[in-house]
Amino acid sequence: MTTNKPTGAARGMTAYGDVGFSRFLRGAFLSGAGFDSDDLDRPIVGIADLTSDFNPCHRGMPGLIDSIKRGVAEAGGLPMVFPTMSLGETLLSPTSMLFRNLLAMETEELVRAQPMDAAVLVGGCDKTVPAQLMAAASSSVPVLIEVTGPMLTNTFEGERVGACTDCRRLWGKFRSGEMDEQRIREAEGALATTSGTCMVMGTASTMATMAETLGMMLPGGATPPSPTGDRLRHGVRTGRRAVELAREPVLPREVLTPDAFHNALRVLAAVGGSTNAIVHLLAISRRAGAGVTLQDFDDIARETPLLVDLKPSGRGYMEDLHRAGGVPVLLRALRPLLRLEHRGLAGRSLGDLLDEVPDPAPWQSTIRSLDDPLGPPGALAVVSGSLAPQGAVIKVSAATGSLLQHTGPAVVFDSPEDAAQRLDDPGTNVTADSVLVLRNAGPVGAGMPEAGSLPIPRRLAAEGVTDMVRVSDARMSGTSYGTVVLHCSPESAVGGPLGLVRDGDLVRLDVEQRRIDLLVDEAELARRRADQPAPEVPARGWRRLYAETVTQAHLGADLDFMAHDEDRGDALQPE
Ligand code: FES
Ligand code: MG
Repeated sequence: MTTNKPTGAARGMTAYGDVGFSRFLRGAFLSGAGFDSDDLDRPIVGIADLTSDFNPCHRGMPGLIDSIKRGVAEAGGLPMVFPTMSLGETLLSPTSMLFRNLLAMETEELVRAQPMDAAVLVGGCDKTVPAQLMAAASSSVPVLIEVTGPMLTNTFEGERVGACTDCRRLWGKFRSGEMDEQRIREAEGALATTSGTCMVMGTASTMATMAETLGMMLPGGATPPSPTGDRLRHGVRTGRRAVELAREPVLPREVLTPDAFHNALRVLAAVGGSTNAIVHLLAISRRAGAGVTLQDFDDIARETPLLVDLKPSGRGYMEDLHRAGGVPVLLRALRPLLRLEHRGLAGRSLGDLLDEVPDPAPWQSTIRSLDDPLGPPGALAVVSGSLAPQGAVIKVSAATGSLLQHTGPAVVFDSPEDAAQRLDDPGTNVTADSVLVLRNAGPVGAGMPEAGSLPIPRRLAAEGVTDMVRVSDARMSGTSYGTVVLHCSPESAVGGPLGLVRDGDLVRLDVEQRRIDLLVDEAELARRRADQPAPEVPARGWRRLYAETVTQAHLGADLDFMAHDEDRGDALQPE
């Protein structure tokens, strides 16, 4: 691998035409913006700003960026802030996942095209940090990740609540008739009351934790809540470190090694992290050429117990994890299972860093020890079988134990809209034993929305049914829970077997055996396969490029031409 490390002030780098004139022109325009030669002789640190009114999770970002800028200036650098698109999970249709790869591509190109010696990418909401890590993987300047940090919790009717495992739980109560219209409206105002990202171990918290574990964020950066001074001080340190890295570059590809991913997969299992992280880490690994496979998640999870007591797998919230010492103390608890020689952007080996971190303190119960774990190994499992030949995933720690081995008749929905219309229809033949199957919700079919955790039919919910087996090619929110098999690959829209299921077919889930099977004989499936319609591809624009080039979930649902050279296959290799 050749690493084109920057050698001087980024403002001098230009690649076309009359170099002297190009520099003169840049100087003229930057002079007009108030920069003098003293400014421009400093290392330039680009700071990606994803502030947007359409992204409430990022409303604390302006203050955080001020802190990063101060750190850059203190260390003798010149901070230059630039915008990229911002992906607000709750306000994007049809799904934010459709735009993760677009943000990754935009960020990669802007870091490359603009003159900077290092970059700090500031993210937070679910898809932003994965996209920024994907972008970083191909960067030829050092890149640090920083996050807005989680929200603080609130109370509702005397009970501690937060976004958004409790959103789902309370909405479930409303659907079953346990809560009325008035109370659910009051709950709406109580769940997300400060700046920051969802404060359970959902996707945002999981990916912040992954960024820190991978070594792409300075230690202690995943957990400080958004409104706190801890968060701002981490921003200052990040700014200072970015200047050091601009002077002595360490590139993301030197950090995103197989050891880094090994540690990340350990931590993902130990926190009972979001299933979305599986798709994101696969995509990041393929861009970095680190070689992670879907099977690795199962292998590592099988030997890693659940150590962190956060919703949706446990009880607490991110502020509890932060007070307990955050990711460094968790890594300390996991130390015997980690690759300690890994060196992140802090510049020291993980082993050296952990020598200075205390064991989990006795006064807290959020981070447990390997001797006294919260749950057994296997928080995440990869299953495969005739319904998902290339694999599917299930978050065992958020599932119902008695349903992990279950055979039941399928009730099939052709789209999330179809499910929304028919789930509560009294005419739909569904019982607590049914297996709810959702299809056409994979990467090609629909951009892979978080539709996999189908709601329990209202009638059954009112009877006290709280969980059922659900199977799909969709994702589910990291804040969700239930016995939900996700990311079935290949998806139905590209001919996967999910498309062949009919109402009443028996589906068998056996997590112990890591199997998900459709109990229909092959001759019948061959007949059905012949009748399958070809998928519709969007006619134009980003959605067409996406549908034509997105890989399946077990490969990370990235655009196929964005992978690292060795992972792309012969077709894209230059002669
Ligand atoms: Fe933005 Fe949860 S919706 S982090
Ligand atoms: Mg989410």
